[in-house]
Amino acid sequence: MIEVPGWVASVAAAARTVSVLTGAGMSAESGVPTFRDAAEGTSLWEDYDPQLLVSIDSWYADPDLVWAWHLWLAGLVHRAEPNPGHRALADWASRDDVELRIITQNIDDLHERAGSPVLSHLHGNLFAFRCADCGREYGEPVEFLSEPEQRRRPPSCGHCGGFIRPEVVWFGEALPHQDMEDAVDAMLDSDLVLVVGTSGIVQPAASLPDIARGHGTAVVEINPALTRLSDRVDFCWRAPAGQALPALTSAIAG
Ligand code: APR
Repeated sequence: MIEVPGWVASVAAAARTVSVLTGAGMSAESGVPTFRDAAEGTSLWEDYDPQLLVSIDSWYADPDLVWAWHLWLAGLVHRAEPNPGHRALADWASRDDVELRIITQNIDDLHERAGSPVLSHLHGNLFAFRCADCGREYGEPVEFLSEPEQRRRPPSCGHCGGFIRPEVVWFGEALPHQDMEDAVDAMLDSDLVLVVGTSGIVQPAASLPDIARGHGTAVVEINPALTRLSDRVDFCWRAPAGQALPALTSAIAG
């Protein structure tokens, strides 16, 4: 088990309200590619900028391409398992003496499958669907892809005939208001904020740690690499989430 920096262990042990902001790196050790390298290793998508695959403009221009990419990612997540980092957060949240909230940019369900309630899914949820035109929820089974396919025609809404889309927040769309409001409230009401596995590029999520720090809350980044947030946190723990979080929860359990 990796060594936990002493300062991090002491702040975490004393914390009674902990908020954890996670990004794609949280799921990397589950085999789910991080966003900025989502295409690498998947020959079909290597020619596409992942950010283009998750934009409202791309949906309008080529819904079959965007739908196929989401079905591929959903299939990959469906076959993945929560990693020790997800499970460590769920264990920590189960303690009676701590309130731990998860605010995630991830559209996967790995926190939930590890047993963690999620306070905010800032960028939506890959496994919920609605009509892109009338907004009605779509409850029919959706078949995910086991192999990448370039295009798939989205199903049609039974009410208005519009295309069905995932409940994911695409570039060019607003974040769900309540999720963002709850995330800001959590930043203002925490003894400790952990920022795990995010490059800190996409706003407004990337501003959440600043809100906490501006409120005098200790902010710790857990990431093997330096990020845009690294010089705006109290401690940079250069470690993978799947090793750091189990080590931390083990250190404070004692
Ligand atoms: N443990 C912790 N962090 C890791 C790990 C790991 N095992 N592996 C990679 N990382 C880090 C990378 O160093 C990087 O800083 O995870 C981060 C992933 O960054 P991005 O791919 O940019 O993902 P994210 O920050 O979540 O992107 C935010 O951008 O494209 C949109 O909506 C999409 O939610 C996404 C948002």
